[in-house]
Amino acid sequence: MSLLLLTGAPAMAETFTERMAPCLACHGEKGQSETPEVPSLGGQPAPYVLIQLYLFRGKQRVVEIMNDATADFTDDDLRTFSDYIAALPPPQPPADGAGDARLQRGGALITQHRCNSCHGLDLAGRDSIPRIAAQREDYLVKSLREYKSNARPGYDPAMASVMAPVDDAQILDLAFAIARFR
Ligand code: HEC
Ligand code: HEC
Repeated sequence: MSLLLLTGAPAMAETFTERMAPCLACHGEKGQSETPEVPSLGGQPAPYVLIQLYLFRGKQRVVEIMNDATADFTDDDLRTFSDYIAALPPPQPPADGAGDARLQRGGALITQHRCNSCHGLDLAGRDSIPRIAAQREDYLVKSLREYKSNARPGYDPAMASVMAPVDDAQILDLAFAIARFR
């Protein structure tokens, strides 16, 4: 067998746009996900995305779809995909929820647990800390539960300690308020 076949013939190589298309089909063309429990990626800081893709590739963050999607990523791919994702527009919060008591309760919990000390006053994240503002509510609930149970250890144990004193009713309030944060 020729070396060319082993390494993949250049004529067969997919372009970056072709490789990005399935990602955007799940995560949303314009940075905003319309798919249940699939996070919006727009405006995520590139260093955060890079770390998460690295964790997916090494199966240190276990999500089968994402482990498969990144299995053959090179280090250059990690960087190229992260930079592309960071440049997508940030998601917009839904217009509903005004006057809902969960907004106030969630807002108070954000202050009490100092979520904004790391995620930023605008919850837009920076460097290796993710943007959470206007993230999908169902995905926020899922991730906060997974940090609390340690099903998602993360690259940094900060979130497990943050979530330790937070109960499930408070997780629902936090997710409601953060998904509608503007
Ligand atoms: C079939 C749907 C699907 C496809 C295709 C897919 N993803 Fe995902 N992706 C998910 C799901 C679901 C999660 C969240 C898993 C969880 O619950 O933690 C995720 C998580 C992520 C995250 C972490 C986001 C965060 O906020 O932590 C990144 C980054 C990501 N995907 C990038 C990609 C890239 C790049 C591709 C293409 C190579 C891709 N995804 C393809 C479904 C998909
Ligand atoms: C000490 C700093 C710190 C504090 C305080 C903090 N976070 Fe985090 N948060 C992080 C880091 C670091 C990560 C990424 C960890 C990883 O690799 O999964 C993260 C991840 C997250 C994610 C996952 C986002 C995604 O796209 O997958 C959510 C949601 C989140 N934090 C919400 C909160 C909430 C709500 C609070 C307050 C109750 C909070 N954080 C307080 C540092 C912090």
